[in-house]
Amino acid sequence: MLLSDILMAAFAGFWFFLAAYAANPCAVLFGGGRPMDGGRTHKDGRRLLGDGKTWKGTVGGTICGIVLGLLAAGAADLAGVVELSYGTLLQVLWACFLLAFGSMCGDITGSYVKRRLGRKRGARTPILDQYDFFIGSILFLLVGYSSWFTERYWDGPGKIGLLTILILTPILHRVVNIIGHKMGKKDVPW
Ligand code: CTP
Ligand code: MG
Repeated sequence: MLLSDILMAAFAGFWFFLAAYAANPCAVLFGGGRPMDGGRTHKDGRRLLGDGKTWKGTVGGTICGIVLGLLAAGAADLAGVVELSYGTLLQVLWACFLLAFGSMCGDITGSYVKRRLGRKRGARTPILDQYDFFIGSILFLLVGYSSWFTERYWDGPGKIGLLTILILTPILHRVVNIIGHKMGKKDVPW
């Protein structure tokens, strides 16, 4: 395998994950208002999810992820780069919905777990903070569209792409959160 093939496979891994990566920062931009748990508490006395998970954020994040995925897919097709092709319009829509909504659901599940561990909203929780959305997206793809996942993240050079997002995810998470913090959108830089 040529170095250029490896680099292309690594970039494709990132490229096909754009909808998942966009969802969380967009949830930060669009978030606010009514929390999803409606202020309810669990029997342990702590909030179910906390004020950091809102309906507006979840819907906004999901829609933004899908839109970015559509743009990326369109760009790849226009440029005629087969390695970066998301598939037909229907395939793009379904895959990006799963990536973006899975990302949101993973993040929400992460907050549920954090509250059960007694972590307050925004408290640092290594690994869970960096990978909750990642696991959500991968799981949703595996359940909802496994052929799309295997074609792009398992078969042939796909595993290079999978390894790339595995390594890139905590790095991107950190960079994006520092930017969000500097912009005054996030209380804490993680
Ligand atoms: N956000 C939202 N809805 C979501 C996810 C995020 O409104 N589904 C917004 C909230 O304003 C939130 C911010 O984005 O405060 C940052 O997201 P995140 O770091 O996931 O939430 P935290 O406030 O850190 O809360 P948690 O401890 O539950 O992670
Ligand atoms: Mg957080």
